[in-house]
Amino acid sequence: MAEVAAPVEQLGLADAADAIALWQDNGLTRPWNAPQADFTRAVEGPASAVLGIRDGGALVGTVMVGHDGHRGWVYYLAVELGRHRQGLGARLMRAAEAWIVDHGGVKLQLMVRADNEAASGFYTAIGYEQQAVTVLGRRLAEG
Ligand SMILES: CC(C)(COP(=O)(O)OP(=O)(O)OC[C@H]1O[C@@H](n2cnc3c(N)ncnc32)[C@H](O)[C@@H]1OP(=O)(O)O)[C@@H](O)C(=O)NCCC(=O)NCCS
Repeated sequence: MAEVAAPVEQLGLADAADAIALWQDNGLTRPWNAPQADFTRAVEGPASAVLGIRDGGALVGTVMVGHDGHRGWVYYLAVELGRHRQGLGARLMRAAEAWIVDHGGVKLQLMVRADNEAASGFYTAIGYEQQAVTVLGRRLAEG
């Protein structure tokens, strides 16, 4: 398939359905998450965005990026099935990094589900290193 020349762009509310379809196709959604609410909050929030790449108008990749005042984080990195290993994931991550630097951040952190070895391989290939931390969490509300 030909290389996608379009630049990474900031997505809007109208892109929600296409973005969520990419997340679902790539196994990123979970029953306890609400992807529509996640998308809307990220697009409307002052410290977050959803970036994407289109090919001929069709959304082929996304990454959610945000800054919490200390670190930048990414979520929902997904490339259309059938277009993996064509450099799109790396382009999206470089765009997320640039977004974080533009918003005053100096470090990007991200969480990879323990069973997602493919993603760990990808992140290592583009220069990310495992950090010596344990992630703890506590659910405070539904959604
Ligand atoms: C992870 C994902 C976004 C990678 O996107 P991609 O477009 O396929 O990756 P790229 O083509 O940009 O690859 C960049 C580098 O990572 C490497 N890479 C990609 N997938 C890899 C894998 N499964 N294992 C090892 N290395 C991998 C590539 O070989 C390339 O290395 P190179 O620059 O040395 O050639 C894509 O596979 C995906 O959508 N996966 C499902 C969703 C997911 O798991 N998201 C991450 C959640 S934390």
